[in-house]
Amino acid sequence: MILTVTLNTAVDKTLAVPNFRLGRRHRTVEQTTMPGGKGVNVARILKALGQPVIATGMAGGPTGTRIVEQLTQLSVLSDFVRIGEESRTNTSVIDPTTGDQTEINERGPRITEHEVELFTDKLLYLAKGATLCVFAGSLPRHVDVEIYAQLITELRRRGVYTVVDTDGEPLRRAVRAEPDVISPNVAEAEELVGHEFNEEEDSIDAIDQMVRMGAREVIMTTPEGCFANVLAGDPGAGRELYRVCLSTAIEVRATVGSGDAFLAGFVAGLYGGRSRVEALSYGVACGAESTRHLGAGLLDPASVERLVPRVEVERLALSPAR
Ligand SMILES: Nc1ncnc2c1ncn2[C@@H]1O[C@H](COP(=O)(O)OP(=O)(O)OP(=O)(O)O)[C@@H](O)[C@H]1O
Ligand SMILES: [Mg+2]
Repeated sequence: MILTVTLNTAVDKTLAVPNFRLGRRHRTVEQTTMPGGKGVNVARILKALGQPVIATGMAGGPTGTRIVEQLTQLSVLSDFVRIGEESRTNTSVIDPTTGDQTEINERGPRITEHEVELFTDKLLYLAKGATLCVFAGSLPRHVDVEIYAQLITELRRRGVYTVVDTDGEPLRRAVRAEPDVISPNVAEAEELVGHEFNEEEDSIDAIDQMVRMGAREVIMTTPEGCFANVLAGDPGAGRELYRVCLSTAIEVRATVGSGDAFLAGFVAGLYGGRSRVEALSYGVACGAESTRHLGAGLLDPASVERLVPRVEVERLALSPAR
């Protein structure tokens, strides 16, 4: 079983608004509403890809109830701690005439210490039946920035493989707890290592640095695909560095949640017994396919399969050991 952890669940609303201009009144031409928060997106996609998953985390108020009910409708198993304050609604406005995307994320509920304790107990209980756990997304207010780091330490001690997709200080702390995989996008990776990347070499060095900071494997997603520093298949065989890209451009409608689709694809690949390279390729195909759909983290598994042959993998030389 795979677990996904979403501490800051949300209803994700995506609105298509042609000629969107600040300060004007608009009408939507299309809209979707999804249960969201990054871990929930990953869980929905894992379910669509046929993998066994339970979405856990914290959800509250009528928005929290809606998230749980919508997951149930999608046959995604979930087990959330119900919190006192209301979960968020996040709104994305896509302008189909320009492709511009504007995201407005609500701040989210305040969480009490007792709610964090209830959640920790729940996670450790669920972990008894899990082999892999994905921690994804931001933290709600008043949650200790160490929380991912603490939970990673607990789960690793229990033999659960840990994957983290977050940013800022929670990511920095999480990396020190030596998670199995982190998957920042370029901006998140730049923030973590503390400088911008201008050339490919910068990205490769940064990935190396993130490994030295503590992450066992690092995947940095880019709009083209990803760079990944992963452990080779055989125990003790060392590391390998790859660039994985879609060889031909596809028609993009909305990229919101494409990182979540990537991660779900990669995790589905690993859990399904594929090699690292195959799992990375599958992730890139999932991320790319999801950009054809308006809602966050939606994809069509049959089209993903058709994209897989269009993914190119290049093995790169590792930086010399320091
Ligand atoms: N313009 C694009 N064309 C094709 N594929 C894309 C594009 N943008 C993103 N992708 C796919 O999505 C994956 C993740 O992209 P990206 O690094 O932009 O994610 P992200 O910023 O984490 O997204 P989010 O956090 O909104 O889910 C990439 O590996 C790639 O497969
Ligand atoms: Mg992301």
